[in-house]
Amino acid sequence: MPSKTIAQLFNLTGKVAIVTGGSMGIGYGIVRRLVEAGAKTVIADIAVKEGEAKARGFQQQGKAVTFIKTDVSAERDVKNLIAKTVKQYGRLDILVNNAGIFPTKPVLEMDLKFWEKIQAVNLRSVFLGCREAARAMAKNPGGVIINVASIDALHPSMVGLAAYDASKHGVWGFTKNFALEVAKQSIRVNAIAPGGISTEGVEAMTKGAVKTGAAMNESIKAFTAKIPLGRFGEPDEIATVALFLASDASAYMTGEIVVVDGGVLLA
Ligand SMILES: NC(=O)c1ccc[n+]([C@@H]2O[C@H](COP(=O)([O-])OP(=O)(O)OC[C@H]3O[C@@H](n4cnc5c(N)ncnc54)[C@H](O)[C@@H]3O)[C@@H](O)[C@H]2O)c1
Repeated sequence: MPSKTIAQLFNLTGKVAIVTGGSMGIGYGIVRRLVEAGAKTVIADIAVKEGEAKARGFQQQGKAVTFIKTDVSAERDVKNLIAKTVKQYGRLDILVNNAGIFPTKPVLEMDLKFWEKIQAVNLRSVFLGCREAARAMAKNPGGVIINVASIDALHPSMVGLAAYDASKHGVWGFTKNFALEVAKQSIRVNAIAPGGISTEGVEAMTKGAVKTGAAMNESIKAFTAKIPLGRFGEPDEIATVALFLASDASAYMTGEIVVVDGGVLLA
């Protein structure tokens, strides 16, 4: 006989969550589902106008959502984010490391600054977020961390994403080892590997491709053509998986990656 009902398993009332990159795209989708499940939620992002507007929208519905300006690649900002969250809400239960960037450039045209920026925003951020969150979570039993990786953590999706793919392979490797390290504190650490998802970031990438030439535009078209389910996914189709990983419905899962890609990796 199961000990919890389905409603109880997915109920996050009393939990406190942080979603980085929550001002738009996949992150905002995740914020919506965590809030719906009852979590007090912090949006952490560099996009201030968008993040504050989203937080205000929730507050007008009586929901506990706040915005904290955070550059996830900056140690000081991440420490400030966790400290402020714990000060305001008294605890931290869920961290979603979602913020990420995916500019494209062939390696032969890449300078060090471009490479370092991608590693800092996509990978250093995950180390900083995980370390600071786990320190805060150690004060209460349990805790959940979800790292948004990519199918590119497992297999390249298109030419021009070598720096991105290196960062996302790093996120996946880090997730597994860190899950092992904090398991005895009952902190669960999992990753999600989205395929193509329609977001503001992808729209900007596509527009950029149209502007800057045929090669990247062709790559995006070729990527779309090989999605077995025949379409890009929606942010909410990642958010529902994040909700599952944040909830007790996944209580025995840690160090795992969940691929959500419309079947791309099958092809
Ligand atoms: N959309 C996709 O197809 C797709 C596929 C695989 C993986 N992902 C991953 O999902 C995550 C979200 O992607 P998205 O498509 O929603 O992107 P997006 O560009 O639509 O949104 C990203 C958010 O992150 C924020 N951000 C960027 N740099 C930041 C920084 N230094 N500090 C704090 N916030 C920062 C942006 O302001 C924005 O709000 C990323 O990690 C991305 O790599 C996306």
